[in-house]
Amino acid sequence: MWGDRYAVLASGSGSNLQALIESKIPKPTIVIGDLECGALERARKVKIPAELVPFEGDRTAFTATILDLARSHGVGTLVLAGFMRILGPAASKSLPNRIVNIHPSLLPAFPGRDAVRQALAAGVKITGVTVHFVDEFVDHGPIIAQQAVPVFVDDSVESLHARIQKEEHQLYPRVVKALLEGRLVVKDRRVTWT
Ligand code: GRF
Repeated sequence: MWGDRYAVLASGSGSNLQALIESKIPKPTIVIGDLECGALERARKVKIPAELVPFEGDRTAFTATILDLARSHGVGTLVLAGFMRILGPAASKSLPNRIVNIHPSLLPAFPGRDAVRQALAAGVKITGVTVHFVDEFVDHGPIIAQQAVPVFVDDSVESLHARIQKEEHQLYPRVVKALLEGRLVVKDRRVTWT
């Protein structure tokens, strides 16, 4: 129903983008970055259109530019992969349950920035990965999938994040595939895989 065209939004190294590119699911139609970053480079390397949309202080205008760009590429699904900007409410309003995000903790624990550092500081024994729909609040929309990851006593932010990212790279392509195939059904805050 939605087709398999999607945009990846990223600000960082783009390892999740790479996992999507190397998986068996369709390649992203376009990659959008708010700054020059590894993700845009990875896209260019495999000839996926890579667009830079700098954030210039106006979230409404920034969000509208991204939505217009996605629309002009025939894209109705946004996949946030290490995207460090918050989209305005127009995004989830115009694409309800068509925007997903990946977060390096078991939400609702440790939302926001530095989720890995927060988990270490709290001394939890288990943290993980959450993939969720994006709504108008930060790291808040209905949860699609979670994977637990153990925390070891000698972990650093780097070692724990690396363990989490290994799981992210497995999980995100599976979720995006199900989303593109229209197999994720949301009722209230509960997501069912059909
Ligand atoms: C991931 O850990 C993701 O959970 C978080 O930002 C990181 C992005 O990593 N939102 P990468 O750019 O995909 O390597």
